[in-house]
Amino acid sequence: MLAVVLFSLNGGSAQTPRFTPSDEKPEDFPAGPGRDDTFYFCTACHNFKLVAQQGMTRRQWEESLQWMTDKHNMPPLPPKDRDIVLNYLEATFPPRTPANRGWQSPFQPR
Ligand code: HEC
Repeated sequence: MLAVVLFSLNGGSAQTPRFTPSDEKPEDFPAGPGRDDTFYFCTACHNFKLVAQQGMTRRQWEESLQWMTDKHNMPPLPPKDRDIVLNYLEATFPPRTPANRGWQSPFQPR
């Protein structure tokens, strides 16, 4: 474990954000089938809060994954894993409407 954690994300001029291993763990996020797999897959590159703060349809989630594959060298998921990930994302982080504000981060004051 590194004692010093550098957050270049807020560093201003960072062109390629480098995410640091964070203190997050899967249990910090809503339970559901596929949560742990999704968490570990996504946190290879960025923290999961970035994911959890989004609310999208399955189709938009798919497009996000495609975008990361195209632009950020994300390894494409085998179809089976892709389904697991998309099922979790779709069920847990759907688009927000005024009535359904989606998951509220415990780290953010309302
Ligand atoms: C190979 C690296 C990589 C992996 C693995 C990865 N991402 Fe990303 N993702 C990125 C990069 C790079 C960005 C851009 C970060 C930024 O703009 O600050 C990003 C940004 C995002 C964003 C924000 C997009 C926006 O419009 O702001 C979402 C949502 C996202 N990723 C979801 C996921 C999900 C869900 C997974 C796991 C299923 C995942 N990512 C796995 C590289 C990756």
